[in-house]
Amino acid sequence: MTGVQELLLSRIRDVADYPEPGVMFKDITPLLADPAAFTALTDALAEIAGNTGATKIVGLEARGFILGAPVAVRAGIGFIPVRKAGKLPGATLSQAYDLEYGSAEIEVHAEDLVSGDRVLVIDDVLATGGTAEASLRLIRRAGADVAGLAVLMELGFLAGRSRLEPALAGAPLESLLTV
Ligand code: PRP
Repeated sequence: MTGVQELLLSRIRDVADYPEPGVMFKDITPLLADPAAFTALTDALAEIAGNTGATKIVGLEARGFILGAPVAVRAGIGFIPVRKAGKLPGATLSQAYDLEYGSAEIEVHAEDLVSGDRVLVIDDVLATGGTAEASLRLIRRAGADVAGLAVLMELGFLAGRSRLEPALAGAPLESLLTV
């Protein structure tokens, strides 16, 4: 493990039985509160943005906003929020996806993604991959290209990576930590 990975991991707090019994929640608020760790994370993600040739950053609500916005500023490219349904005021593209119980829907402003864009999706955690998969579908439906998906943390035991293979279609999935 690199020094940066050790720093990041040391600032993620495990919270047992949250939001429900049996779930170990990965709380990134200690990392966000530590300027050295947050800067190291932003730098690492901005390097991925550069390596993938991304021209836009998509952040997934809500923690993907916190991580993605400073990366977009650092990389000198635009930030596009992908929100839970009903939060964006303009014309949107929507994508539904299945949850363990029920379903959810995410949206993006249709005008924010166009043909010729190369989009890097940023989020904090890759779990089942459902949210990320839906975001990749949205990006392609908008006519844009997927530059990749970058997450702080991948929960390896949930196999989100293999689920995402078709949607990524060869684009890279970069996770800074795998737990
Ligand atoms: C969490 C996390 C990812 C998603 C990962 O967000 O921040 O976006 O779940 O899960 P998946 O890989 O199984 O789709 P959450 O839906 O809790 O939303 P929030 O950040 O708005 O609380």
